[in-house]
Amino acid sequence: MDGGKAIRESRDVDVPLAAAHFFYYAGWADKLQYAFAGRNPKSLGVAGQIIPWNFPLLMAAWKIAPALACGNTVVLKPAETTSLTAMKLAEIIQDCDLPPGVVNIISGAGATGAAIVNHPGINKIAFTGWTDVGKIIQRALAGTDKKYTLELGGKAANIVFEDAAIDQAVEGIVNGIFFNQGHVCCAGSRLFVQENIKDTLLKKLKDRMDTLIVGDPLDKNTDIGAINSKEQLKKIQNYIKIGTNEGGNCYQSNCVLPTKGFWCKPTLFMDVAQSSRIVQEEIFGPVLAVQTFRTAEEAIEKANNTPFGLSSGVWTDKGSKIFKVTSKIRAGVVWANTYNKFDPTSPFGGYKESGVGREGGMHGLDAYLKFN
Ligand code: NAI
Ligand code: MG
Repeated sequence: MDGGKAIRESRDVDVPLAAAHFFYYAGWADKLQYAFAGRNPKSLGVAGQIIPWNFPLLMAAWKIAPALACGNTVVLKPAETTSLTAMKLAEIIQDCDLPPGVVNIISGAGATGAAIVNHPGINKIAFTGWTDVGKIIQRALAGTDKKYTLELGGKAANIVFEDAAIDQAVEGIVNGIFFNQGHVCCAGSRLFVQENIKDTLLKKLKDRMDTLIVGDPLDKNTDIGAINSKEQLKKIQNYIKIGTNEGGNCYQSNCVLPTKGFWCKPTLFMDVAQSSRIVQEEIFGPVLAVQTFRTAEEAIEKANNTPFGLSSGVWTDKGSKIFKVTSKIRAGVVWANTYNKFDPTSPFGGYKESGVGREGGMHGLDAYLKFN
């Protein structure tokens, strides 16, 4: 109701994963001395946390759970279009009798976020959002002793080799780019198909796209819910225009969109150049750019050729190829024969303009502790 995502995804992904994060980090709370043996870990103090609108509950859990496990207090600011979810979480936190002041949730827009970043009483900043805002925050923190982690944008390559299980890969491509309306920093927004299977794969992919139901987020049969805001819809539509003007060959599924609200058909672009803006920039919507390759080397080079490095996917039947390719991709997470799988025990984070630091797993504790 708050963000527009399909209820099936909230129920099967966001809510259980949010609970799993609290459960996982709760386990670390009395074991920090052992996790960092000989390093004498201590709480940092107050963590300022700024989250985006694409996973309003899950991102709050990613931020709050490790901070509390390390003995800190938090000031968390939800995104301005999805504050209600955070307020609901605040009620649950009150119900579980945390002492007053341990978790503080403040709604507001960019200026409120900036006030948290610049506040002298804050010891650590955790931010997830747009790369440009991440850069502003990094500049603001330069020269202070605040610790920080930045989870920024992405433009992930999903690479399908000729020997991949094609139907499984098609499901992975669909999940990679259309999950959560494509409002996902690790979305598989660039598809690389080995040249000789391009026609077969694209036919299957388009057929599958045609079965996707776009509409009422509260209907459990809905695959793709509402675009989060009018502003974001405009941004996506503008990129579709840019892609077309750049010579891309656009395909949109033949689904029927509801008349009221913010919606976008599942969209893909073929015949796009590596330099194309829809190949290089984060769209954050259900728009896939399709390119082909002949050799693994070519796929790796193209995959790495963006300013981002958050995630990637590789589809092949050959284990040795998985090792060869995944080790050469500059991305924090590389999935093999699957996509968008998350687990609290696994670190997550980016290279290059995708961010600084890791969240999740033992790595995620480090950012909330000081050592001496
Ligand atoms: P944003 O990065 O501006 O918003 C994320 C959070 O940062 C919100 O809570 C916002 O209030 C806060 N914020 C904004 N300006 C700030 C500042 N100067 N200092 C501190 N906090 C600040 O993202 P926005 O404007 O909602 O979306 C813009 C684009 O960013 C989207 O179209 C999408 O492409 C991308 N985006 C990427 C995300 C990712 O996880 N990679 C998440 C959200 C947006
Ligand atoms: Mg913004």
